[in-house]
Amino acid sequence: MSSVGGSAYILGIESSCDDTAAAVVGEKYEVLSSVVASQMDLHSRFGGVVPEIASRVHVCEVVPAVKRAMTEAGISPRQLCAIAVTQGPGLAGSLAVGVSAAKALGLGWGVPVVPVNHLQGHLASLYLEGLEVQLPSLVLLVSGGHTLLAEHTRRGTYRVLGQTRDDSVGEAYDKVARLLDLGYPGGPILDRLAQEGEAVLALPRPMIRKGLEFSFSGLKSAVATAVRARGDLRPADVAASFVAAVMDVLVEKLRRALEQGDYKSVAVVGGVAASPILRDRVAKLGATLNIEVRLPRQRYSTDNAAMIAAAAWSARETSVLPSPAGLGFGIRPGLGLDGDRAE
Ligand code: KG4
Ligand code: ZN
Repeated sequence: MSSVGGSAYILGIESSCDDTAAAVVGEKYEVLSSVVASQMDLHSRFGGVVPEIASRVHVCEVVPAVKRAMTEAGISPRQLCAIAVTQGPGLAGSLAVGVSAAKALGLGWGVPVVPVNHLQGHLASLYLEGLEVQLPSLVLLVSGGHTLLAEHTRRGTYRVLGQTRDDSVGEAYDKVARLLDLGYPGGPILDRLAQEGEAVLALPRPMIRKGLEFSFSGLKSAVATAVRARGDLRPADVAASFVAAVMDVLVEKLRRALEQGDYKSVAVVGGVAASPILRDRVAKLGATLNIEVRLPRQRYSTDNAAMIAAAAWSARETSVLPSPAGLGFGIRPGLGLDGDRAE
């Protein structure tokens, strides 16, 4: 990647799930523009993302999103040193739209295209807008598709310490919200409701004292059983009980992982990191243990393309991710942080 005319910018494109996003980010991780076209309203009536609808909408939205991102950034394609696009993990049809668009633009503009791992994107969100992270850092990634703890030693370098064995935290939120008929995405809805309720249900805290792996499907089933057994439960009390159980597990795992390593900071990224309740609990943990807490700005916690461009910048610093890979790469829907998973 070389800079053109003294300025170097990366255009990020993200379409792995139900947001079509484009952003322009400079080499100091400054965000010149970040456009997110959400499909939330289209999917909410189904209680979750419908892959076929998602990919069709990406087809309509991706070029307008890129145009808006470039216009708002006030730059021309000649000032781009790369286009970074999410290669996986995600929905195959949705990924294919973003990757095809990125390749077409790269070819037309003569700009290299860099494939980016969506999870590396979430992790790189920590650096956007000049935020710094003291390393080594313990990072918790909590999104709709993933829940994992990783040791972050250098920019762009992560070692997975434990992941979920079944549902992710975001998935559990979304399924419980669907069970209560509250709409999609469940995270913000349940979080809000939880603050009006009381944690009256004695729900399990799965694997809370066992290793650094997670499991949330049992918790989701326990909520379903309790709701079926007691018709008189207030949704706010169910939400408060569920959120309390999730937070207890996340914070306890963080505390135990921190004890096992020599970390200078603790960070939380991914869609669920937008939760004010989680932010508050992690801040308190940091204060208790006297360790620095790092959180991306809320708008960069949920899916966005600025984090995809940021991951490409950090790949350049560490060369962990492939540098401009030509146009021969394809989508990798089952990509994990450590590479492809058997699915
Ligand atoms: O990272 P993300 O935007 O997409 C994926 O990569 O999956 O995460 C989406 C997840 C959804 O499950 C959503 O319910 C959850 O993040 N989420 C939240 C909040 N905002 C989004 N969960 C808890 N509290 C929130 N405020
Ligand atoms: Zn995501």
